[in-house]
Amino acid sequence: MIESIRFGISMDRKLLKEFDRLIEHMGYTNRSEAIRDLIRERLIQEEWEVTRQETAGTITIVYSHETRELTETLTALQHSYFKHIISTMHVHLDEHNCLEVLIVKGRANILKKIADRLLSTRGVKHGKLTTTTTGKAVS
Ligand code: NI
Repeated sequence: MIESIRFGISMDRKLLKEFDRLIEHMGYTNRSEAIRDLIRERLIQEEWEVTRQETAGTITIVYSHETRELTETLTALQHSYFKHIISTMHVHLDEHNCLEVLIVKGRANILKKIADRLLSTRGVKHGKLTTTTTGKAVS
């Protein structure tokens, strides 16, 4: 079991009041969990921006499968990164539009490159890289 340590934080009243208002709005029932999540978020940001360790994320793209050669281009791109794309889900949103979610794992710079290449492909209407973590560096 991971040991928990209690520690005190000093801050001015106004800042604490604003923090309490924010976390209540977000649905937190106590400050400790909110502060832990803030620290985790910052650690994950560092995992993506600074360290070169393995991380994880998802890439979401929306496109029309009727756009000429787009499906082939996207598939070829995904095959060239097969080591980093560990799973994909394809949903037919309507008669024309497709939504794809790719789960990616690897070094941040490579994952960003995969996202950039997919999102910049002509015909991709929307896309987003969501950064998360393998969980190893965050408890
Ligand atoms: Ni489709």
